Amino acid sequence: MILPSSIQEVNDAAKIEEVVGDFVNLKRRGANYSGLCPFHNEKSPSFNVNPARNIFKCFGCGKAGDPITFVMEHEQVSYPEAVRFLAKKYRIELKETESSDQQRQEQQAIDSLYLINQFAQEYFQTQLFDTDKGRSVGLSYFKQRGFREETIKKFGLGFAQNDMDGLLRAGKQKGYNTDQLKKLGLVTQYDRDFFRERVMFSIHNLTGKVIAFAGRIMAKDPKQPKYINSPETEIYYKSKVLYGIFFAKKAIRQFDECLLVEGYTDVISLHQSGIENVVASSGTALTPDQIRLIKRFTNNIKIIYDGDAAGIKAALRGLDLALAEDMNVRLVLLPDQEDPDSYIQKVGSEAFLTYLKEKGKDIVQFETELLLKEAGDDPTRRAGVLGQIANTISKIKNPLRRDEYVKVTRQVLGVDEGRMIFEVNKLLRRDLEKHQALEGVTPPSSDDSFPTEEPGYVSNPIMAEAEMSVGDEFQEKHIAHILINAGGEWYDPEHSTTVAQYVWINIEDVIDYFDSKLYKKVVVEIMQRVNQGLEISAQYFINHPDTDVRQLASTVLTSPYEFSENWELKHEVFLNQRKPEDNYFKDAEAAVKRLKLRKIGRIIADNHAKMKVINQGDVEQLLPLIKLDQKLKAMRNQLAGELGMVVVK
Ligand code: UTP
Ligand code: MN
Repeated sequence: MILPSSIQEVNDAAKIEEVVGDFVNLKRRGANYSGLCPFHNEKSPSFNVNPARNIFKCFGCGKAGDPITFVMEHEQVSYPEAVRFLAKKYRIELKETESSDQQRQEQQAIDSLYLINQFAQEYFQTQLFDTDKGRSVGLSYFKQRGFREETIKKFGLGFAQNDMDGLLRAGKQKGYNTDQLKKLGLVTQYDRDFFRERVMFSIHNLTGKVIAFAGRIMAKDPKQPKYINSPETEIYYKSKVLYGIFFAKKAIRQFDECLLVEGYTDVISLHQSGIENVVASSGTALTPDQIRLIKRFTNNIKIIYDGDAAGIKAALRGLDLALAEDMNVRLVLLPDQEDPDSYIQKVGSEAFLTYLKEKGKDIVQFETELLLKEAGDDPTRRAGVLGQIANTISKIKNPLRRDEYVKVTRQVLGVDEGRMIFEVNKLLRRDLEKHQALEGVTPPSSDDSFPTEEPGYVSNPIMAEAEMSVGDEFQEKHIAHILINAGGEWYDPEHSTTVAQYVWINIEDVIDYFDSKLYKKVVVEIMQRVNQGLEISAQYFINHPDTDVRQLASTVLTSPYEFSENWELKHEVFLNQRKPEDNYFKDAEAAVKRLKLRKIGRIIADNHAKMKVINQGDVEQLLPLIKLDQKLKAMRNQLAGELGMVVVK
């Protein structure tokens, strides 16, 4: 462990402009510097370096931090590695606490696994280039596939002879432990080489160390698998690795997109053609760990699969996970009988890239179309598709993106927007309840002793459907809209309160009941600014460091009146007049009341749930809850009355 005093020393010495300056071309702008952000693809500089505060911040992607953070993010290394990196740059001698004997032994064992793999890679490479069989079988195979020598060396390709124990003997000679060779799967339990008569692919981790191998068959033997792989070890967890990530990470960040293909040879082929932001999942569906690995570099994945059904199904299986991580996933199907390797060799990289651009389809839209095609004219199956797509959309965390998907897919499905929203909300609510149950908040239950669902409030029967719907996001969004649009305006004619102040005072008590993290964030931030006496302006949100907030602000400001008549009716989001800037008072007031009405409904349900778990004879415990129930209901009725609504049971 590095001593805290040493870390402090590094922190004191590291100058942000120097550390960043090693990687980014910085231009002075007054007291600060700016440049093109190394973390996302941009054409005009929004990346800022502030020497006085010793921090960097990108107004484009939101990344920010001190010199250590910068090194961690930029070099994709751990905290201690970043500290060591800076210590070296500033010639600081780090003081470390002694690690225990056991820690040291474990570390040594792991280091030797890396070492042996490195040796094995060199062994396979020598076999490929420096033996007759290697050259005539292995090297000529790679060359015939169009791989250049520099590519073969870069990716650590090699050859395993049809030799019983060549690798084992070479390893022993170098003094490597046979048990460790076995552990790595290079040698079988019967002291034979595991990889034989195969061309070899090295699998690297994020920092470029060899962690495993794959061998492709050379002999024409239909009984043997085409590829065999190293077993899992402490340094190789198949589900956490993406083939090619070490060679791809820089380009992925640079182009803000990760191409995902199926095979080893696809990665190598694309890379050799100059398309370097590519990794392979090695023929399986993406795992959560792999998605998170990609997310460290970009939010955009483009899956390139051959058009067969198995490939597509594999791609769709990883979809929900990626959406839950708020990633954009696009899918490109290649022409029949082609894989990325064969296709790029046929058409060249330029045509390949054009194809990707033109044929890339959003994966939710793709799934919708695919399922509809499968369902044909069968009405029950078509209804099932609606449910499935609603389910996919409900996995997306960002409400703005959910909105977009509702709009796109409901068109493909041919249903109206309200219906789609209703389906999505139903599922959101279900997830929310599951989540609350896990966190120990009892959800409203369906026992008869208390009303299960709070009665809805409808002024129009059509709204009953939306009323049963759940998430309160539409009401929350309306509040956020008003705050962004008019937070700084006067709420009253006497100019004593701003809209933001009014809204905050009135919804403070229900802020914990917000469903949407984004809207909650906006409201809480405004509250903080209100409390600090800071100005609230649309400009502030447009320049907000958080991408989602900025995006919200731009939607709000470019389409302030997006609510259609139908929308208003179904989702209880009313604009009292066409031009709220004439009178913010009514608009803000109605929005606040509608939100509170929803939230009070929720609090009442929570309270009922609490009452249910108390022994019904225990008056002492029950009484305060009953009183609270009465009070809440009175508040609710008052609000409903003010909004001109009728309570339905
Ligand atoms: P492919 O069969 O598409 O192979 O499997 P490929 O990569 O295009 O190889 P070539 O072009 O025939 O030489 C795609 C991926 O699935 C995994 C491998 O990771 C392969 O790259 N796979 C395939 C296996 O792990 N085992 C197998 O037996 C087959
Ligand atoms: Mn292939």
